[in-house]
Amino acid sequence: MEGMLKDGALKNKTIIITGGGTGLGRSMGKYMLELGANLVITSRKEEVLQKTAEELSKQTGGQVLPIVCDVRKYEQIQNVIDTSEKYFGQIDGVLNNAAGNFISPTERLSHRAFDIVVDIVLKGTYYFTLAAGKNWITKKQKGNFLNIVTTYAWTGSGYVVPSACSKAGVLALTRSLAVEWAKYNIRSNAIAPGPFPTEGAWSRLLPGDLVKKFDPAERIPLKRVGEHSELANLAAYLMSDYSGYINGEVITIDGGEWLRNGGEFSHLEHIPEQMWDELEKNRK
Ligand code: HXC
Ligand code: NAP
Repeated sequence: MEGMLKDGALKNKTIIITGGGTGLGRSMGKYMLELGANLVITSRKEEVLQKTAEELSKQTGGQVLPIVCDVRKYEQIQNVIDTSEKYFGQIDGVLNNAAGNFISPTERLSHRAFDIVVDIVLKGTYYFTLAAGKNWITKKQKGNFLNIVTTYAWTGSGYVVPSACSKAGVLALTRSLAVEWAKYNIRSNAIAPGPFPTEGAWSRLLPGDLVKKFDPAERIPLKRVGEHSELANLAAYLMSDYSGYINGEVITIDGGEWLRNGGEFSHLEHIPEQMWDELEKNRK
């Protein structure tokens, strides 16, 4: 699928993507590079970051700076900000994308298991937001936050409760700062993706035989999972100045999944045409 934005739509913008070495972070980053952005990708695994950085710069001709950073460590985040500014001059956007997740009945979780997800997703996001926000405010620079949440940030979901609590917190952070920091010319928005196949998500949310038992596409009115390029288009738009008046929004990109599964009568899609014919005949 083609990119939707004009060539150069992100020219001269430096964007940091947490968890940018793999999955959706990598795909969004690739498109941003194609649009002329400079990219900083961060995560815990140096080798993965180096490889992605080399591949993406080769494929797009753009500049990618890989920096190891565990989002649970504030001093490592400060290092990302300082190093990125030294290398590229200034930072224009932060895409809070890093996450940890797994499925489990909640009563089987230890408090450490709960902590590990909350620390990456919620604490990692507010740490990065604080560090980057303070830096922009001090330097009187405009800035742009884009946070990746999920639709269960507002519905909640069993079996991924630490993630649901954390994503709900990230959504509250997004909306709160959209208002509070607008005076500093800092925007905050979020994207709530439905299922987009990645190794990281599939291996942890559909482990073992579950992948054979549950087809995520069946829950989705459009009957398919998302394509990375569809998400990349949306993310690049929200990172660009074309979306300059969008602030405090969460945009869902899920093929109608969450509404379908909340709809009282959505199950009627299982009624065959013939039964509808009979019901109609009886009504008349
Ligand atoms: C129950 C678990 C567990 C599991 C770990 N723990 N995995 N408990 N079920 N599957 C418990 C351990 O027993 C331990 O508690 C505690 O959690 C910490 O375990 P560690 O071994 O230290 O953690 P580890 O398994 O190494 O790492 C967990 C992780 C890892 C950090 C979350 O999976 C990771 O690095 N993930 C990053 C990438 C990721 O998760 N991507 C998917 C994002 S998908 P005890 O008490 O024994 O010490 C996503 C999609 C959302 O967010 C929406 C989809 C539609
Ligand atoms: P992924 O490839 O596993 O991405 C997660 C990234 O986070 C990895 O690159 C990982 O790198 C990084 N990360 C984990 N812990 C970290 C830490 N402590 N510090 C820094 N980085 C850390 O999975 P994905 O599917 O692309 O997920 C990307 C985002 O989309 C997540 O926010 C996820 O919740 C969201 N999402 C995904 C889907 C989907 O269907 N795929 C749906 C809804 C929302 P390291 O291991 O190297 O640190």
